[in-house]
Amino acid sequence: MKLGVNIDHIAVLREARRINDPDPLQALGICARAGADQITIHLREDRRHIHDEDAAAIIRHSPLPVNLECAQASEIIDFVCEQRPLRATLVPEKREEVTTEGGLDVTGDPTALKEVIRRLHDAEVEVSLFIDPHPDTVLAAKELGADWIEFHTGRYANLWAMLYSNLTRTRHAIESLQLPRRDLKKMLDEELSTLADLAEHAKGIHLRVAAGHGLNYQNVGPIAKIRQIEELNIGQSIVARSVFVGLEAAVREMKALLQ
Ligand code: PXP
Repeated sequence: MKLGVNIDHIAVLREARRINDPDPLQALGICARAGADQITIHLREDRRHIHDEDAAAIIRHSPLPVNLECAQASEIIDFVCEQRPLRATLVPEKREEVTTEGGLDVTGDPTALKEVIRRLHDAEVEVSLFIDPHPDTVLAAKELGADWIEFHTGRYANLWAMLYSNLTRTRHAIESLQLPRRDLKKMLDEELSTLADLAEHAKGIHLRVAAGHGLNYQNVGPIAKIRQIEELNIGQSIVARSVFVGLEAAVREMKALLQ
């Protein structure tokens, strides 16, 4: 299974001081050497982590294909069409969110989204839609003309964390998931089966399938076993681990878990 390394969190660290260090550009060669298959970045509307100059330089210099996550705002789409990364992943975006919470709304009026996809295709940029795992979203993504879908694995990761990590003992416990272990286990198993079934279905209708969000060294195993998922995009856990072992080792360790 392929690994896309989301290097946004390097820019998060840089922006904590509003200086030039660490530079996400420096991660490109290291990720490539460590066996990553793709570089993923998120150009947010408020540019709070990755800036236009980062994105342009990364697309120009990356030895690996670049997957640029973005919202549908027309000035961002103009930028993407100009810079032409290999792929754009359309994600929902709310200014106040800490990270991307939930998938794109693909089942409403398709007019605007279709136009964005057409513009990206005209610029020869592959299009992926970041969606919640549901039969309706998969079908809608196909009808909209996407090349890829990326399943949002946030629910899987949250269920896993409440069951197996010490999250329940921290102030980050997820209130809606304060449930008996038996229920959590059942929900986790169901989420995994849903992801596997939908990945199979998506492949069958010629959509390429990626997944990501909240995946880490502990919870990635069962997702990595779903053979119809071609690629995982993982950021926070890899950059967090790199603080202790270095980026190259952190990427290598994650890649080994995807074999
Ligand atoms: N895929 C998409 C579409 C995302 O928006 C994100 C978060 O930026 C990720 C993958 C990576 O998530 P994480 O940082 O939790 O690994």
